Amino acid sequence: MLQNDLLLKVLRGEQAERTPVWMMRQAGRYLPEYMVLREKYGFFERCQTPELACEITIQPVNIIGVDAAILFSDILVVPQAMGLEVQLVESKGPYLPDPIKTQKDLTRVRVPDVQETLGYVFDAIKLIKRELNNRVPLIGFAGAPWTILCYMVQGKGSKTFDEAKAFCYTQPELAHTLLQMITDTTIAYLQAQVKAGADTVQIFDSWGGLLGPADFENLSLQYIRQIVTALKDLAPTIIFAKGAWHSLASMAATGAQGLGIDWCISPQMARQFAGNQVTLQGNFDPAKLLSPIPVIQKEVKQMLDAFGSGRHIANLGHGILPNVPVDHARAFVDSVKNYKG
Ligand code: CP3
Repeated sequence: MLQNDLLLKVLRGEQAERTPVWMMRQAGRYLPEYMVLREKYGFFERCQTPELACEITIQPVNIIGVDAAILFSDILVVPQAMGLEVQLVESKGPYLPDPIKTQKDLTRVRVPDVQETLGYVFDAIKLIKRELNNRVPLIGFAGAPWTILCYMVQGKGSKTFDEAKAFCYTQPELAHTLLQMITDTTIAYLQAQVKAGADTVQIFDSWGGLLGPADFENLSLQYIRQIVTALKDLAPTIIFAKGAWHSLASMAATGAQGLGIDWCISPQMARQFAGNQVTLQGNFDPAKLLSPIPVIQKEVKQMLDAFGSGRHIANLGHGILPNVPVDHARAFVDSVKNYKG
């Protein structure tokens, strides 16, 4: 039995003593303890070594006091497992030297056996569960197929992902073949994460907001829906499709238990779109953690007032920034914990 199961209770729609809180990218560069390990080991080495992934995953639980741990890994381990080379270039971000552009390129990718290619993730999850010793739940995750396609085709980060979009708009059959391959891999990957011990899983669609409503349904949501359906009897799912506020109602209709929202939509409006049968997660502007602590405290209270008594998990509206002082992150978490509605 978990000692702190606030997150799972709220995902199930049950009454909880208070609002649970965690932060996207909570295991990362704003923590000096993370930076020590970053000096010594490469990024994918940290992901692939269960002891390191475990230590990094648990750091924010011990240092910041969040109500959930999120597996330390990356969404780009999936394209790696599918056969593409993925590098993380210092101060540049992800780089895939041989991206997918043509039918011929597609022969280089496969739907892999996840135990063979991603077994290190499941080993890390088992170790993390043992080390957490039931203190808080563990969140597993994967990228949404659309966001993974963005990197597989564009080959690197982008503000517009224009080449990925051009690929989908000019070679739609190829795009759908690739999206289905990513979906099949992701389903097996997330099912195995849950079997290894993940208590819930989040699907990160960081670039969902680049698509209009019809393209979002066609290129993203129809694949996310398959993933949510495949996990339905295993664990609660949270969909975080940044910027895709227009599709909150359709996302709620997938049966996902949680929907992440960013700070560009008000909690009231998100609740109106999503309905009452789903938990909302978010939506503090990550840059506001750079404000003085009293401002953070005031803004957190405003956010919680705005979400009201409905199903809510407090979080940022996107990942924490590397330049956030540790005590500001802690002030965010403590303000949620100390909130009196
Ligand atoms: O939330 C967590 O603490 C768990 C770990 C986690 C990481 N990446 C670790 C990481 C999670 C959930 C992710 C998801 C991820 N990765 C997303 C979706 C969420 C989002 O932020 O939109 C995306 C788009 C990626 C791809 C990715 N990985 C990028 C664009 C970058 C470089 C930019 C950056 O933030 O540095 C990464 C690297 C990465 N993934 C780091 C971490 C801690 C930084 C690595 C380092 O420099 O030490």
